[in-house]
Amino acid sequence: MHLLTWLMGNSYHVAGWRHPLAWDRTTMRLDVLIEVAKMAEEAKLDALFIADGNAVRNMDKVGLFEANTPSARPAVFDPVTLMAAVSQHTQHIGLVSTASTTYETPWSVARRYASLDHISAGRAAWNVVTGSNTGDSMNFGLDRHPDREERYARAEEFVDACIALWDSWDHDAFVERKDTGQYLDSSRVRTPDFRGTHLSVKGPLNVARSPQGRPVLFHAGQSEGGRRLAARRADCIFAAAADVEAAREYTSDLKRRRAELGGDPDQLKVIVSVAIYLGRTEAEATTLHQELNALITPEIGVDFLGKTVSEDLTGYSIDDPVPDLSRAVVGGNSIRGQLDAIAKAEHLTIRQLYERVVPSVGNAALIGTAVQVADTMEEWFATGACDGFVLGAAISPFTLTLIRDELVPELQRRGLFRTEYTGTTLREHLGLGPIS
Ligand SMILES: Cc1cc2nc3c(=O)[nH]c(=O)nc-3n(C[C@H](O)[C@H](O)[C@H](O)COP(=O)(O)O)c2cc1C
Repeated sequence: MHLLTWLMGNSYHVAGWRHPLAWDRTTMRLDVLIEVAKMAEEAKLDALFIADGNAVRNMDKVGLFEANTPSARPAVFDPVTLMAAVSQHTQHIGLVSTASTTYETPWSVARRYASLDHISAGRAAWNVVTGSNTGDSMNFGLDRHPDREERYARAEEFVDACIALWDSWDHDAFVERKDTGQYLDSSRVRTPDFRGTHLSVKGPLNVARSPQGRPVLFHAGQSEGGRRLAARRADCIFAAAADVEAAREYTSDLKRRRAELGGDPDQLKVIVSVAIYLGRTEAEATTLHQELNALITPEIGVDFLGKTVSEDLTGYSIDDPVPDLSRAVVGGNSIRGQLDAIAKAEHLTIRQLYERVVPSVGNAALIGTAVQVADTMEEWFATGACDGFVLGAAISPFTLTLIRDELVPELQRRGLFRTEYTGTTLREHLGLGPIS
C-alpha cells in the first residue's frame, strides 16, 4: 500500500485551522511545514504532496476575501521552492508538487522539476494538472480559462515535450575530464525540437539527466481527457471517489486503458484521496468530526460548495434547493455532475449539500480509531479500489500524530505497509521500474 499526505500546516478540514488542537499561526511558516515533513517521514510515508493553483480565490467577488480560508490559498509558497527547502531537512520521503500545463511552459516546468530531482537526490514528482482554478487566467494576462478539451489537448503535448527535454542527456554525459579538458561527451546528448499544435520547444534542457531519469509523473484529472492522459503518460494518478464502488470503477478503468495501450497496469498506481478523522477512541473521533463541522460558517460552506461545483451560489439562500447543475461549465469537473445527481435524488438544500461535501472535500471521510480506519483502507486496497491513499489529516498536527503513532503501526501489523524505507528514490518507494 502506498501512502502520501498533504504538505500543509493548516489542517485538511476547511475549518480545522480554528480547532484548539490545531497549530496556531501557520501562514508562511517553513518551520511548521518542515515539522509536517519530518512526521510524515517518521511514519515512513511514500511522499508529501502539495496541491497548487495560482489565483487567490474570491478576489473578484463583492466583499473581497470575505469567505476566505486557508483553502483559498491566499498565502502559500511556490511549491517547488518549498520542496527544495524541505528536501534539505528529510532523507527519504518523496516530494510531489503541482504545476499547471495551461499556464506554464514545458521548458520552465522541465527545468524546475529536474533541478528538484537533483537537489533531493531522486525524490521529485510533478503532479500534472490542467488547472481547476478559472481565475488563474487573469494572473497570466489571458481573458478566459480555456475549456477542458483545449486544456487537455495542450496538456498531452506539454507532457510529451517535458519528457523529450528530460531525455536530453544520458546519465554519463558530463565526463568532466581534467586531464583531457573534455567537459561533456557530445555523443550522450539529444537535441529535442518539439513542435506541436499548441506549443513548441527546442532543447537540450540545461539540466543534466536527473537521478530518477525523469521526475515521477502524477496526474489529478478525472474526466475523459484526464483518464486518457494518465493512461498514456502517468506513473500515478490521484482519484477522487466518494465510495469504494466509485474507486473500483475508476481504478479498473484506468488499468484497462493502460493495458489497452500495451503498458503494464501495475505500473500505473491509483492513489485515492481521503479525509482522515482519527481519534484515540471512536467517541473522540466522532466528537472531533462534529466539532470541526460546527466551525463551518454558512459563508464558508456556500463558498466551498460553489468552488467544488464551479458555480457561484452566493445569490441563493442556503435553505434554497440546490440549483440545477447539469449544465457543463468551463472549469467544471466530474464532481459537479455527481453532486447534481445526489442533490436531485435526495432533494437537498444548499446547506444540506455543503454539510455533506465540505468535511471530506468531496472524497470519502474515514472516521474512527486507527483499527477502524485501517479496516476501511484494507478493504479498499484488497478489493482493487486503489493502490494507496493520500491522507488528508483533518487537524494538523493532531491527526498527523495519530497517523504516525497509531494508523501506520496498525497497517504495518497487518503487513500492508513498509516498516522501513528500502529504496532511496521515490520511484523505488512506489514500486515503479527504472526509466530506460
Ligand atoms: C487528490 C487531488 C489533488 C488535486 N490537486 C489539484 C491541484 O493541485 N491543482 C489543481 O488545479 N487541481 C487539482 N485537482 C483537480 C484535478 O486537477 C482535476 O481538475 C479534477 O480532478 C477534475 O478532473 P478533470 O480536470 O479531468 O475534469 C486535484 C484533484 C485530486 C483528486
